[in-house]
Amino acid sequence: MHLVLAALLAVSAVWGHPSLESRTTSQVYKSCVKTNDIALTFDDGPYIYLRNIADEFTAAGAKATFFMNGNNWGCIYSDDRIASVKHAYAAGHMIGSHTWSHPDLTTLSTAQINDEMFRMEEAFSRILGIKPAFMRPPSGYYNANIKKIAFSRGQNLALWDMDTGDADGNNTAQSEAVYNDAANSKVKNAVILQHETEEDTATKLVPYALKLFKSKGYNLVTLAECLGVSPYQAVGVAQKQSSSWTCDGTPSPGTGCGGSIACKTGTPAFSSSSAPSGVVPNE
Ligand SMILES: *[C@@H]1O[C@H](CO)[C@@H](O)[C@H](O)[C@H]1NC(C)=O
Ligand SMILES: [Zn+2]
Repeated sequence: MHLVLAALLAVSAVWGHPSLESRTTSQVYKSCVKTNDIALTFDDGPYIYLRNIADEFTAAGAKATFFMNGNNWGCIYSDDRIASVKHAYAAGHMIGSHTWSHPDLTTLSTAQINDEMFRMEEAFSRILGIKPAFMRPPSGYYNANIKKIAFSRGQNLALWDMDTGDADGNNTAQSEAVYNDAANSKVKNAVILQHETEEDTATKLVPYALKLFKSKGYNLVTLAECLGVSPYQAVGVAQKQSSSWTCDGTPSPGTGCGGSIACKTGTPAFSSSSAPSGVVPNE
């Protein structure tokens, strides 16, 4: 009896250990694993509030997580967006993929899903020199194929367990009630959804949440930190801006590649380090 129990425990210990499990598909994360951590996550940017939100977190000694699109509320390759994305990243806030053009991935083909992920990885590789380790599927819609594709690209899926509804018609008081619920129910490890694209989120919800959660003794950390994993597959160096950095001829918001827009495959170019000074790199 004891032997059987011990054997069962040994088996479950092995299977329950992520590093020993041989996985063929992405993990789907909905909440933090570290006690007392809260990850506030902001979707759909970069937009005009990115800098404000990043600075509010920085001033509070907290970290935010941004799941970004390339072509949704404007183009990530505009000078202003490039600058604000670099600004948020340099301050230590986490950057993840939210796909290139924010389509419902469950309606796309495998080639189109890869294209959506490729273009976002390419933008991060160019602007920041990073390979993201997390992808948040638009609206949280995913299926087994999307999990497999994300896995093949080295990314896990990042969902959430509490939604402020800031982009779904909730007013400020209703969204603040979501924070109050989290704080008062003494949740130990929430991942909360907000949107960078809402003015009230930047000017009202963020100051409210920072003050509330800090006063209750929570750690406001990035999603990767609250999971105890790395936010990026690799960190290299940013590339030099060129005319190929454009949203022209790419899938428009809510759509995928196809027709006159060729679907991109493979993995985008990545610079792991700058050439030593005085050495001209081979082109
Ligand atoms: C909106 O606010 C209400 C009240 O706080 C909350 O129960 C709900 O989860 C929020 N989110 C959405 C998406 O409605
Ligand atoms: Zn979104």
